[in-house]
Amino acid sequence: MNALHTSVRDLASKAGQETALLGWISQFRSSGKIAFLGLRDGTGTVQVVVARNEVDDDSWDSIADLALETSVRVTGSVRQDDRAPGGYEVTASSLEVLGTADEYPIQPKEHGVDFLLNHRHLWLRHGRQAAIMRVRDEVVKAIRDFFYDRDFVLVDSPILTGAIGESAGTLFSTEYFDLGTAYLAQTGQLYVEAAAAALGKVYCFGPTFRAEKSKTRRHLTEFWMVEPEVAWLDSEGNMLLQEEFVSFIVQRVLERRRSDLDILERDVAPLEAIAPPFDRMSYTEAVDALRAGGSDIEWGADLGAEHETVLTEGRQKPLFVYDYPVEAKAFYMKENPEDPRTVKCNDLLAPEGYGEIIGGSQREDDYDRLLARIREEGLPERAYDWYLDLRRYGTFPHSGFGLGLERTVAWICGAPHLREVIAFPRMMTRLTP
Ligand code: 4AD
Ligand code: MG
Repeated sequence: MNALHTSVRDLASKAGQETALLGWISQFRSSGKIAFLGLRDGTGTVQVVVARNEVDDDSWDSIADLALETSVRVTGSVRQDDRAPGGYEVTASSLEVLGTADEYPIQPKEHGVDFLLNHRHLWLRHGRQAAIMRVRDEVVKAIRDFFYDRDFVLVDSPILTGAIGESAGTLFSTEYFDLGTAYLAQTGQLYVEAAAAALGKVYCFGPTFRAEKSKTRRHLTEFWMVEPEVAWLDSEGNMLLQEEFVSFIVQRVLERRRSDLDILERDVAPLEAIAPPFDRMSYTEAVDALRAGGSDIEWGADLGAEHETVLTEGRQKPLFVYDYPVEAKAFYMKENPEDPRTVKCNDLLAPEGYGEIIGGSQREDDYDRLLARIREEGLPERAYDWYLDLRRYGTFPHSGFGLGLERTVAWICGAPHLREVIAFPRMMTRLTP
């Protein structure tokens, strides 16, 4: 609000001095002559002691108006106290209620997850949720730093699009003036491919939309994806970039958000092991391994979550599965010259059962083959005219990938469900708050 109040995080700089604090009541108990308040301000929580004989009458009277989440202004002196969480305590000289609070719906007891999601706008205030948001913020910053430091150019791709990016089955659509149907982007990839021919190394990073009729813990209908695209990079180079990238993100969070991982009670040992090189296995090897373990998966089928879990069991590091069958993947992937039944692509599976966090590939750069794939998939050819132009005017080998932000944050936080790692989750059965 102004320079005259101090954040809980910065209390150390005011040790031994008088200062003002603004925040919400997270806890309170009082006896006849003394009250202990928990004051939460978004940067931390501090205990405030209000003693009857050290405050004016108005301040003391306002204690009667306190409830969970009342907003207050406190002035007082900051005292170092090694027993206090955060190492400081405040002795109040005045207390003013700024906003009273009705009976707060989220009480310190077990609530069902539906109840919490219905109150997501309030649930966000709680320690674990706030810690996840800070980790998410750190991951986003790490992503931007990684690409900026390597001379990638951010190119924002449109959300309203005229072409199907991944698969026709999971599109949100809306009427678009006289032009018919617009789709909400499932990916920015086709656009960053165009940008890669203009700028070499690019990425887009934004919300993407999938009308997935799946209610699993790994699926949102709106999620964030970062998608680098690199000219002259092949599938092998693409995997090297991915393992460097994912390791960078994890190490950055360990460096800067240790206290939040503590709040989340995340075992950091598995994260500390995340460094290149990651394990690698071809799709064919994966199917053989699964079948040897008793699965009846047939070569050609896509891997499901349960397959991913089996493949990553007992591994410390993420696992690349590469060169999937043509029929399991999107139309734009490059045919594998060594085995045309497969495409030059990879998924990256996170350890600890978190499954696919990245899908990537080398792109089909041959005009005729790409056109044939578009036709085979029954995609509307005219919508891809501009995309085919990239193969008409100086085609070039290029590769890229998409990393799902929420999947990555869930893994790093050890959060069991994606709905906790985005502020306002959108799922099949949830559009509010
Ligand atoms: O594997 P996907 O579908 O790949 C693409 O969209 C490519 N066009 C990316 C590219 O090469 N530029 O999605 C990429 C990642 C997945 O690995 C997963 O992490 C995440 O996006 N993802 C989802 N996250 C949450 N909810 C969903 N419904 C998701 N679908 C995909
Ligand atoms: Mg995928």
